[in-house]
Order: sequence, then structure tokens, then C-alpha cells
Amino acid sequence: MYAGWLHAQGEAMPAAISVGTNPQFEGTERTVEAYAIDRVGLDLYGLHVAVDFLAFVRGQAKFETLDALLEQMGQDVKKCRELVAAEGAV
Ligand SMILES: Cc1cc2nc3c(=O)[nH]c(=O)nc-3n(C[C@H](O)[C@H](O)[C@H](O)COP(=O)(O)O)c2cc1C
Repeated sequence: MYAGWLHAQGEAMPAAISVGTNPQFEGTERTVEAYAIDRVGLDLYGLHVAVDFLAFVRGQAKFETLDALLEQMGQDVKKCRELVAAEGAV
């Protein structure tokens, strides 16, 4: 997963961007999932959006438990928030 920005509605939003097959859930299709950090109630359905990648944080993994993945995702978001803040706006 990567730290970066989700661009939508004329805004650059700090994001944690997961790229991979979601091995935790035995996925097979590679997807790109941008989690907009600290944003609630965004409605982007039907819009074209773009992502900018700032830094690679870690590869996708399969964890012992779902809780372990959720715990890791919390740390990922914290790391991404810091990385994007250190870089400033684009
Ligand atoms: C920051 C972040 C890190 C993630 N890391 C992993 C991972 O290590 N392994 C994994 O299988 N999926 C990972 N995912 C993807 C989640 O599994 C995904 O959000 C979940 O499957 C929900 O997908 P859905 O909204 O399509 O149901 C990550 C997602 C985010 C946003």
C-alpha cells in the first residue's frame, strides 16, 4: 500500500492506497482502493477520480486474524497521514 492523494471534486485528499488482490480474503483480481483519510460522508459515485502515489509503505499481506489486518490498516493510515503532511499539498 502507498501514501498519496485521491483527486476528486477539485480537491487533493490525503489517501492510503491499497493495490493488490486482497489476499486476506483469497481475492484473485487486482484492485486499487483509495481510502480518503479523515473524510466522512464523501459521495464520489459516478465521478472520475485520480490517484497520485507519493511513497510505497508495504506490500499486501494475509494476517492471522481480521483484527490483525484492521490493526495494521490503522497504522497504515497513521503513517500515510504523516507522509502526506510532510510532503505538503500537490
Ligand atoms: C490501508 C489499507 C491497507 C490494506 N492492506 C491489506 C492487506 O495487507 N491485505 C489484504 O488482503 N487487504 C488489504 N487491504 C484491502 C482490504 O482487504 C479491503 O479494504 C477489504 O477487502 C474491503 O474491500 P471491499 O470494500 O471491497 O469489501 C487494505 C486496504 C487499505 C485501505
